Amino acid sequence: MEEYLQELKHAQDSGLARYIGVSNFTVAQMKQAIEILGEGVLYTNQVEVHPYLQNAQVVDFCKQNEMIVTGYMPFAYGDVLKDGSIKHIAEKHGATPAQVVLAWMAKSGFVTIPSSTKKANIESNLGYVDVVLNDEDMTTIANLDRGHRLANPDFAPEWTRFSFLIATVYVKNVRYSPDVFS
Ligand SMILES: NC(=O)c1ccc[n+]([C@@H]2O[C@H](COP(=O)([O-])OP(=O)(O)OC[C@H]3O[C@@H](n4cnc5c(N)ncnc54)[C@H](OP(=O)(O)O)[C@@H]3O)[C@@H](O)[C@H]2O)c1
Repeated sequence: MEEYLQELKHAQDSGLARYIGVSNFTVAQMKQAIEILGEGVLYTNQVEVHPYLQNAQVVDFCKQNEMIVTGYMPFAYGDVLKDGSIKHIAEKHGATPAQVVLAWMAKSGFVTIPSSTKKANIESNLGYVDVVLNDEDMTTIANLDRGHRLANPDFAPEWTRFSFLIATVYVKNVRYSPDVFS
């Protein structure tokens, strides 16, 4: 970690990267990274976050250390869009389940990177900005957390004990991140 983080810092100091981000870092790894780089250098940690995996320990640590949480797989690859409670909230607001999930992500302070192969879904998903969830909705979604991790390939280590890491570097607004799950 020491070697590649210093290289990323070097890229940033040279003006090649605006921000440095990491992905799938555990709390232990973030602590190690902060020891190497100092506070306030890591911009974001990109981790799996959706209503079924709210990743509280990592999220809290990021918030305490002013790192943005980039939540990937916000729809749990479609699973949470079928959830009865999400559907109920969606009906109440005249919204889609996907818009509800994205509104919840935004209201929870996450940056997120949903994906879709369909133009209509991408356009519709952007309508999340008009969905205003109330405290009851937020509590209902908070209660859906069940530690349901999808990005967990057989080569992944114990998430709570070890690290699984992918370095991400933001170079002139472009994100380069090896996506080992696709
Ligand atoms: N850093 C990492 O380790 C890591 C790991 C995994 C994923 N990621 C990144 O996270 C991003 C998202 O992940 P993901 O694509 O795996 O999961 P996702 O965004 O949770 O789910 C994508 C699924 O949701 C469906 N969907 C999207 N909008 C919809 C809508 N309005 N109605 C119904 N279905 C809808 C899509 O189907 P349609 O195509 O039919 O719309 C697709 O099947 C990607 O950019 C991926 O590269 C990063």
